[in-house]
Amino acid sequence: MKRNIRNDFLVFGAPAIEEAEIQEVVASMRSGWLGTGPKVARFEKDFCAYKDARYAVAVNSGTAALHLSIIAADIKPGDEVITTALTFCATVNAIIHSGARPVLADVDPFTMNIDSNQIERKITPRTRAILPVHFAGRPCNMDAISDISERHDLKIIEDCAHAIETEYKGYKAGTTGDFGCFSFYVTKNVATGEGGMVLTQREEDAARIKMLALHGMSKDAWKRFSDEDYKHYQVEECGFKYNMMDLQAGIGIHQLQRVENNWKKRRELWNFYQQSLSGFPIELPSDPEPNTRHAYHLYTVLIDPSVAMISRDDFIETMTRKNIGTGVHYRSIPEHPYYQKTFGWKPEDYPNAMRIGQQTVSLPISAKLNTEDLDRVVEAVQDILTYDKARDAHIAYVYATA
Ligand SMILES: Cc1ncc(COP(=O)(O)O)c(C=O)c1O
Repeated sequence: MKRNIRNDFLVFGAPAIEEAEIQEVVASMRSGWLGTGPKVARFEKDFCAYKDARYAVAVNSGTAALHLSIIAADIKPGDEVITTALTFCATVNAIIHSGARPVLADVDPFTMNIDSNQIERKITPRTRAILPVHFAGRPCNMDAISDISERHDLKIIEDCAHAIETEYKGYKAGTTGDFGCFSFYVTKNVATGEGGMVLTQREEDAARIKMLALHGMSKDAWKRFSDEDYKHYQVEECGFKYNMMDLQAGIGIHQLQRVENNWKKRRELWNFYQQSLSGFPIELPSDPEPNTRHAYHLYTVLIDPSVAMISRDDFIETMTRKNIGTGVHYRSIPEHPYYQKTFGWKPEDYPNAMRIGQQTVSLPISAKLNTEDLDRVVEAVQDILTYDKARDAHIAYVYATA
């Protein structure tokens, strides 16, 4: 089998790291202050200001942000939380870790976001919260979700892992609901390696999340990380070890300063793909809705094998052979064996999420990419999808069998 391997593999979701954050990490290393300290406090303040939020608490992952928000929303074992069938497993796992029961709603086929009509159908007397995910950076219909939450007295916990720059009708994602949860994982729009943040409307929720993120120790425990006089702490709840380190926050502070510039770059890349790939036998993402701001976190296309004449998985395989990394966001939640065994979910009960999960591919869209990289991606996609009349086959198959 012929393999045309090039040295320059285009890694999917490579973070754009610059000298400022490298120097910041080096400074932390030299100072010896690696753990939670002043840089975490500064990152919380900067993030809060960027998001026009009231309170921000930094944690060590987006999953931790979700887990603590669900607990702080007073959701108890046996309660139900409605979320989308098309998300990363962490969204659903965080609900399970809190002892609550996740209930899935199907997505809208065009926005790929949770469908508010489906939410209504899933409400029971045990429902306590809605957990929408702003998929790919496109905001959910927050008017409809807020209306449902008001009528049924439900909390809203927004999964903003893809949505740092997202806005809905002038509101910044993560500030309309009770809690907004962010991830700074390597592939995210602000990357700290691992990291997360919770935005809250209420001071007491922020205080509780902060306490739960550090073993449930009273707030005096945080003074252990300052040069103030020693104070004894008390354990007030059985918490977790979810605190962010200065090493991570130091990266985040500088990444956040470039968040808008990087957003502009990704918007250009997104629009370039939209133009260059139109006319090919694949489904492109729908344009952003009016009066919203898309974060352009992911650029996902759908490959229907009966139209494109190639399966999604063969497409990915061929892209990899052409040294281009792609992603799958996501196979639908009910396709995973754990959830099937535990909750009896069937993929066909969530037809839109299932179809998207089986056909979706994410093309590289990091701010790190240049126009030459993008040309390479577009050329590869065009090559794969071009029908070779002489051989009566798609070029992809010609590569695959050569
Ligand atoms: C939609 C969604 N929710 C939650 C998470 C969890 O974030 P983290 O990896 O920082 O725990 C991710 C991260 O990949 C995500 O994409």
